Amino acid sequence: MTLSPLADVVTRELRGKVLLVTIDHAPVNALSADVRRGLLAAIEAADADRAVEAVLIVGAGRNFIAGADIREFGKPPVPPSLPDVCNRIEACAKPVIAALHGAALGGGLEVALAAHYRIAVDGAKLGLPEVQLGLLPGAGGTQRTPRLIGAPAALDLILSGRHASAKEALALGLIDRLGDSGDILAEGLAYAHELLAAHAPVRRTRDAAALNDRAASLAAVAKARDETAKKARGLFSPLKIVDAVEAAIEQPFDEGLKFERKLFLQCLDSPQRAGLVHAFFAEREVLKAPETRDGKPRALEAIGVIGGGTMGAGIAVAVLDAGLPVTMIERDEASLARGRAHIDKVYDGLIAKGRLTAEKKAATMARWSGSTSYDALAHVDLVIEAVFEDLDVKKAVFAELDRVCKPGAVLATNTSYLDIEAIAASISRPADVIGLHFFSPANIMKLLEVVVPKQVSADVVATAFELAKKLRKTPVRAGVCDGFIGNRLLAVYRAAADALMEDGASPYQIDAAVRAFGLPMGPFQVVDLAGGDIGWAARKRRAATRDPNARYVQIADRLCERGWFGQKTGRGFYLYPEGSRGGMPDPEVEAIIDAERKRAGVTPRSFTDEQIMRRYMAAMINEGANVVHEGIALRPLDVDVTLLYGYGFPRYRGGPMKYADSVGLATILADIREFAKEDPLFWRPSPLLVELVERGADFASLNTTA
Ligand code: 3HC
Ligand code: NAI
Repeated sequence: MTLSPLADVVTRELRGKVLLVTIDHAPVNALSADVRRGLLAAIEAADADRAVEAVLIVGAGRNFIAGADIREFGKPPVPPSLPDVCNRIEACAKPVIAALHGAALGGGLEVALAAHYRIAVDGAKLGLPEVQLGLLPGAGGTQRTPRLIGAPAALDLILSGRHASAKEALALGLIDRLGDSGDILAEGLAYAHELLAAHAPVRRTRDAAALNDRAASLAAVAKARDETAKKARGLFSPLKIVDAVEAAIEQPFDEGLKFERKLFLQCLDSPQRAGLVHAFFAEREVLKAPETRDGKPRALEAIGVIGGGTMGAGIAVAVLDAGLPVTMIERDEASLARGRAHIDKVYDGLIAKGRLTAEKKAATMARWSGSTSYDALAHVDLVIEAVFEDLDVKKAVFAELDRVCKPGAVLATNTSYLDIEAIAASISRPADVIGLHFFSPANIMKLLEVVVPKQVSADVVATAFELAKKLRKTPVRAGVCDGFIGNRLLAVYRAAADALMEDGASPYQIDAAVRAFGLPMGPFQVVDLAGGDIGWAARKRRAATRDPNARYVQIADRLCERGWFGQKTGRGFYLYPEGSRGGMPDPEVEAIIDAERKRAGVTPRSFTDEQIMRRYMAAMINEGANVVHEGIALRPLDVDVTLLYGYGFPRYRGGPMKYADSVGLATILADIREFAKEDPLFWRPSPLLVELVERGADFASLNTTA
């Protein structure tokens, strides 16, 4: 018998004595206002209906409930609130059972915790990931979880935001039973009927006893507070989480809930929440490039990699880790052996750390083969070239690929800067040529710029996105230009940092200011890590085409002329005594900088950290606006994801374009115009920035689906 569904996203149906409540709200059963209303009504109905003896809550589709509806954050609240819904579920006079499959996350798990009994099946993911959105569990999660599984396990789950499997959840006491079939409805109904037959009582998590050892619980809180203060790096919500769990120990349940709500609202209002939620949606939006709609991915069964250097080896590891076979091509046997050794080194490092077994490594390496003959690539579906950064060398490689590869094979280059249009035009099948710009170390860094030349077919672009998915990379579509999205912005904010250095700030102050803003490293530390010679070569290459009127700071060149390339040579902007990785300020570098200031006729002045960051960010944002204006990036959010995933931009700021919106574009533009008084050539406001300010619009207004 079907009872009238109050809202069709939550349906009710009497199955024997059990009221089956199904949440059916695609794609992930998020707890939007309709769902909350429907759940509340279902519990009210269950309590009022004498035919109902128990309630079973399940999710339709692939998940139980993925959590609160993230799209509602920042909008005016609509009743009923989720905490009220959870409290009503818990207060139900008849046993409420939650049956979990797929995602039972955030508010979804909180609904389950408010139920009286919980069953899950294999494949269920249970977690409280709110911290990743700058929040804390705000519907009783910080109060019920520790009461159910104890403070240490609760703190671990809530502070990490990780997903626990159904098996782990059972071991933790988060659920009562593990269903052994995949049929969540059958499992849930069977469990509910079994509980009824056993006259199982209503059992409320608010009364659970896992916090009874007060001293041990408080010790866990103290330890977590200590560790979180060290690790949280500017994040707002983690310490609030610790405070909320402490309240679960020290205060009565209802008081604890009120305290949790207060902290939750503080987090909800924080700019960090806005930045992290922006990042969540942006990293999903980048997957929707137009070619992924129009194109059909080609087969990806076997991959070729050319070059076994830093990038070729890293890319090969990424591909092997995805379970695909790799054929590596090198110039000669010795280089091939070096390429293989680079790969061995990665896996041996994992073995040494106990994160991989020798057997697993052997099984992975069985998918690797190497050759010095391009003919070995005849069978591959996609090739990634990672040879020296030299157009002629690359063209020669592509001529070979044109000769040996099967029709339809995707031919990709990992070039950082070179003109991919020119590479494509040099062979007989330009529609198959694309840029796949990985970041170093390629097996670790998540960003993959998919660089799309004009002639490329949509299928090839779609294949690139498919490869990114297999490699668990975050792809961002970029157009062809010098540096694509990421390195093009890098060149500009690096130039701003160089100018600041020549004008009077020390590289150490600039790096510290950038770190304080939230990046893991400052620009000069990055140069030292990557190797100063790389940028030096690029600057020499560009020397002929550089605008003679543009300011050119020569300090880095002075260091390179001395062979100071950074960590690998023991000194760069910093000193690295005996191969140490943390650099020390170098008085000789400071003397060189002083001499350069004199040579350039600059009278050094001092900058506050804030003044440094205003220039650094204005440069980054202005160039970000330029790449959007020119169509190199589809939308501002593509720039954000590039900087978040490839350059360590702090996720809680959402990316440079989101940050610009939060500061206000008029302020950024006013800064640029102010800086332009000193150097009008460098500080030319992007036409897009000017236009948006004139219209009173922001970057977010351009973040519609591509
Ligand atoms: N609210 C609104 N939309 C959501 C959502 C949510 N909680 N979770 C996912 N979506 C949307 C995605 O944006 C995406 O939309 P799109 O198709 O328009 O791009 C769609 O659902 C599918 O998501 P995915 O592409 O991520 O699908 P997957 O199958 O790969 O992953 C998932 C599913 C594991 C559920 C993943 O989406 C996820 O981790 N979601 C977020 C879970 C989360 O953080 N929950 C906590 C929310 S905060 C909260 O609950 C506060 C409470 O304590 C008060
Ligand atoms: P590398 O110098 O470490 O490796 C290049 C390898 O290519 C060498 O092992 C060399 O023997 C091999 N090689 C040269 N010519 C060849 C040929 N004709 N056939 C087969 N193999 C050949 O260089 P790296 O750093 O790996 O860079 C490779 C490419 O990746 C360049 O285009 C570079 O711009 C790009 N890149 C580099 C990044 C980095 O951080 N190092 C980041 C992203 C892209």
